[in-house]
Order: sequence, then C-alpha cells, then structure tokens
Amino acid sequence: MKAIVQDAYGPADVLRLGDVDRPGIGDEEVLVEVRAAAVDPGVWVLMTGRPYLMRVAGFGLRRPKVAVRGRDVAGVVAAVGARVTRFQPGQEVYGTCESGSYAEYASARQSRLAPKPADLTFEQAAAVPVSGMTALQAVRHGARVRPGQRVLVIGASGGVGSFAVQIAKADGASVTGVCGAAKAGLVRSLGADDVIDYAHGEIDRDGRRYDVVIDTAGNRPLSLLRRVLTPRGTLVVVGGGHTAYRFTGGMGRTFRAPLLSMFTGQRLRPLMSRERAEHLEELTRLVESGAVTPVIDRVYPLAAVPDAIRHLTGGHPGGKVVVTVPGAA
Ligand SMILES: NC(=O)c1ccc[n+]([C@@H]2O[C@H](COP(=O)([O-])OP(=O)(O)OC[C@H]3O[C@@H](n4cnc5c(N)ncnc54)[C@H](OP(=O)(O)O)[C@@H]3O)[C@@H](O)[C@H]2O)c1
Repeated sequence: MKAIVQDAYGPADVLRLGDVDRPGIGDEEVLVEVRAAAVDPGVWVLMTGRPYLMRVAGFGLRRPKVAVRGRDVAGVVAAVGARVTRFQPGQEVYGTCESGSYAEYASARQSRLAPKPADLTFEQAAAVPVSGMTALQAVRHGARVRPGQRVLVIGASGGVGSFAVQIAKADGASVTGVCGAAKAGLVRSLGADDVIDYAHGEIDRDGRRYDVVIDTAGNRPLSLLRRVLTPRGTLVVVGGGHTAYRFTGGMGRTFRAPLLSMFTGQRLRPLMSRERAEHLEELTRLVESGAVTPVIDRVYPLAAVPDAIRHLTGGHPGGKVVVTVPGAA
C-alpha cells in the first residue's frame, strides 16, 4: 500500500511517499481503509524526535519505531480481529490508530474507534479524535466546567482550542478566546463571547478573573495564568510549547503545576489526554446535537503530507489540517 514513511528523525523533508506492507491486525484490532487523517503537533513530535525525552520514553532512540506517521483516522472497516465485537467490515469509523494513518490502510484497537458520526464527511470526522478528545477532557474532566462559569481558552483558534470553545459553550459557560487578530471572527463564530488578540494585549490586561483557564498555547508562565484565575479557579495546562525546548518539550509547567496546587486554593492541573471510545462517543453526541462542528483549515492529499505538517507548524491554521487518502480498494 501507499504510505508516508520516514527512516530517520528530522524536518518534514524526511517524509516520503513509499510502498509498504499493509499492517497486520491482532485479535482486538480493526483494519481500516483510510479515507482521511489529520495533522496535530504530536505528529511533529514523532517526526522530529523532539523533545528528546520522547525517544527515551520508548518511541525509538535513533528512528521512530513506527515508520508511518498519522494518528487520527476516519475510514471504512476492511477486516476485524477474532475478538472484535463492536465493528464489522463495511462500517464507517473514526478514532486513533496504532500503525500510522497517512496510509491506505491502518490498524486500530477497537477500544480507540467509534462509529463515524453520520452527518460528518470523512475529512470532518478525521479532524475530531486527537484534538476533540483533548478538549473534551480539558473542559469536562479536568476543569469540570459548569453553567455560568467564566472560561478563558488560550489558543482558541487551534486544533484543541476550537473544540474547547465549542464544548465550554455547550456546557453553558461564558467563554473568552485568546488568538491572533486574523482568527477573532472564527473564534466568535464558534461561540466565544469575547476575544483577546494576543498581539495587542496580555490576558491580564483588564483585571478580569476566570473560573477556568485552559491553556493550549503553552507559552505563558504559571504566575501569569494564576493571576487571571479566581482564588478557587482551575487551570488546565494542555500545551507545553514543545517546539521551543529540545530536551523536555517545555514540560516544566506540567511538573510544577500540581506541586504548586498543593499550596494554593487554585487547582492547577496538567492534562495527559487519553484515547477512549467512550470519549469519541461523547463527541459524537455533541456533533449530532449541533453543539460542536469540526473546523477545517485546509485539506491536503496524501502525497502532500510534508506540506500539511509545515503548514501546521508555521502557518497558524484556524482549526484542523486534514489529509485525504484516495480509496485503496
Ligand atoms: N496534553 C495533552 O495530552 C495534549 C494533547 C493534544 C495536544 N496537546 C498540545 O496542545 C498544544 C496545542 O495543540 P493544537 O493541536 O491546538 O495546536 P495548534 O492547532 O497549532 O494551535 C495552537 C494555537 O495556539 C495559538 N497561539 C500561538 N501563539 C499564541 C499566543 N502567544 N497566545 C495565545 N495563543 C497562541 C495559535 O493561534 P494563532 O494561529 O492565531 O497564532 C493556535 O490557535 C500543542 O502544544 C500540543 O502538543 C497536548
């Protein structure tokens, strides 16, 4: 099958369109004929091998253990393992995969897939899993946003932020989004009540306090984030600003936040997102109720994945960057 593969860590130039074997599947796995995939900063981490911490964490010291990139997947079930009970061939699914989704076929655990929301195209569905689950866990499980609360989403126009704004609004919050000036209209269209243009004012500029701060941008010190929180407010640290730090990926705030939390009334929580079918199903319900619509910035064909990744890391996309994969059958 055709796939985007890499033999070494490095910039997007290390990626090439090649021919590889179709992935095999275990008893609990599903073979998906990929129709669409998406790009997120995690793809950049696995491509570059940075921060170096991830290499010692088991992703491959000198080169990535899994040669094909791409985590989000939407497609059609081609085959199922012996103990798969939730899916059958021909069914349309979405979720995250193990073998890399920038390929004609991908293998995925059944526990990381859900039926594709009927009203979404494959491209829209592929935009949801990684970013949507992260946003859902930040808003509902990390911050437990309640109706009437004031929520600040930093990085509101990005992959995670565009979902977080919509989910917080669906849960009855008053939302302020932080983004660049060019994205203010987009963020308001997602439901944000107010927008702060980060180029023209810092988040503490008007003395406002928030019950919840969700930080996906990852480039502000904890002291500043705490200053805009109410005395018993909750901060969820989602982004680490990984591109700026070679060794640890800016994980310092992630480690310091829970320590500091022990000495203050504010709850300071790092988020390590998990991939679960029940969270995908929760997102399906939000999509089907009309509360959440994935925002697609740009769609690239499979062969142009390197450009898609360059666009994500340098082009300030609004919403998600998606990859289409021509039918393989
Ligand atoms: N903790 C976890 O489990 C988890 C899971 C998924 C992702 N993440 C991390 O979350 C972060 C965000 O991911 P993503 O997919 O949303 O990335 P993304 O699509 O690139 O979005 C990043 C956003 O940050 C905004 N931004 C840049 N500089 C900013 C600033 N100074 N102030 C406010 N906003 C600023 C960008 O807006 P402009 O385009 O307007 O500049 C953009 O909307 C990444 O670090 C990623 O690795 C963590």
